[in-house]
Amino acid sequence: MAAPPARARSDYDYLIKLLLIGDSGVGKSCLLLRFSDGSFTTSFITTIGIDFKIRTIELDGKRIKLQIWDTAGQERFRTITTAYYRGAMGILLVYDVTDESSFNNIKNWIRNIEQHASDNVNKILVGNKADMDESKRAVPTSKGQALADEYASNFSKLVQKLI
Ligand code: GTP
Repeated sequence: MAAPPARARSDYDYLIKLLLIGDSGVGKSCLLLRFSDGSFTTSFITTIGIDFKIRTIELDGKRIKLQIWDTAGQERFRTITTAYYRGAMGILLVYDVTDESSFNNIKNWIRNIEQHASDNVNKILVGNKADMDESKRAVPTSKGQALADEYASNFSKLVQKLI
């Protein structure tokens, strides 16, 4: 009997595994909720350990299944969360543009990637909460860009506005 067409065997052509990391409160879960469900909440429910969501997109006629892992930013979950680095094909490093320490900590998150992720994993730096009033901004875009250049990753302003 002939093999069924590929589409009937699975609901996607490619499976991409992505990971969100960054300090607690920078907005990782909100980014994911916005991307997967199109919603946003102002309430802060800190992630316990790890969570994930799936969204399938179409690109160049191919169905790409994105499996996005959302890690807890809190230090006490570090052992659990770093266990997920190895399987990631891409890692989104998130900081809050109104919180300088979350930006300064990006170097520590990069060190974690170097220790736990695959060697040539793709990295994207995301400056979140760009919708906040300019008077609250603590990290100018130029500083984000300079850090991204230093690590030769892409500085993404994907999420300019969540609310
Ligand atoms: P952990 O799970 O502890 O690692 O935190 P997190 O990085 O997942 O943060 P979370 O997504 O829970 O967001 C923390 C707080 O920031 C919440 O009160 C959100 O409403 C708020 N927030 C997240 N993203 C944005 C944004 O783009 N703009 C604004 N103004 N607030 C945001």
